[in-house]
Amino acid sequence: MFNKTIVSPSILSADFMTLGAEISALEESGADWIHFDVMDGHFVPNLSIGVPVLKQLRAATKLPIDVHLMISNPLEELPWFLDCSPDFVTVHYEALGEKQEIDEALEIVDAIHAAGAKAGVALKPDTPTGVLDESLKLWDMILVMSVFPGFSGQSYIPESAERVREVAEAARIAGLNPLIQVDGGIGPDTAPLVAAFGADVLVAGNAVLKAENYAQAISEIRERADNAHSSKEAC
Ligand code: DX5
Ligand code: ZN
Repeated sequence: MFNKTIVSPSILSADFMTLGAEISALEESGADWIHFDVMDGHFVPNLSIGVPVLKQLRAATKLPIDVHLMISNPLEELPWFLDCSPDFVTVHYEALGEKQEIDEALEIVDAIHAAGAKAGVALKPDTPTGVLDESLKLWDMILVMSVFPGFSGQSYIPESAERVREVAEAARIAGLNPLIQVDGGIGPDTAPLVAAFGADVLVAGNAVLKAENYAQAISEIRERADNAHSSKEAC
């Protein structure tokens, strides 16, 4: 049995001059979560929003906040973000220390759990999904990036659906049930492609926040994903 697809609009595509109104509009439009993209200008070639905005966002909404850390030193910076009481914090696998990946992963997951949040790990499109074999059991959510992180509004990379299938299969074989999230170029046309292979959480930036009608965009993404998910299950 599967639950309805979770749609997590990325506020990187929001109008920052009216962010409060954008958040209210997302709440009224049926957003399930709010996706919060943090970029450090080092791990990715762009800078975005950080702790002061996250703190205000936390005070402004009861929706689950899903923080995507595209930063080089997640372990070191984590306390700043955990202090804002997010619901999910996702770090990049590629940002973990080369030799002690598993130790660092353990430390990160423990810190996130101790703060009462859930822990995610993200993979860039060119990182083999097999790198997670050792640490798969630690994570509450696996984020399969469907664009190279750094910018909103990019095109979905078609190989991403196959990568979702690989992660879902590895989890099934290991008897694990992490949420599988997909982020980048997701909209009504691409949502079913990844949902069919087991994506549970879909991040959408431009497809929602540049749409005329947020509610319609969110429900279209959710419905098309749900249909793809259930028709696959029926097979
Ligand atoms: C990319 C970010 C994404 C991005 C999504 O680095 O992690 O969350 O903002 O935007 P769209 O849906 O427009 O690709
Ligand atoms: Zn993101």
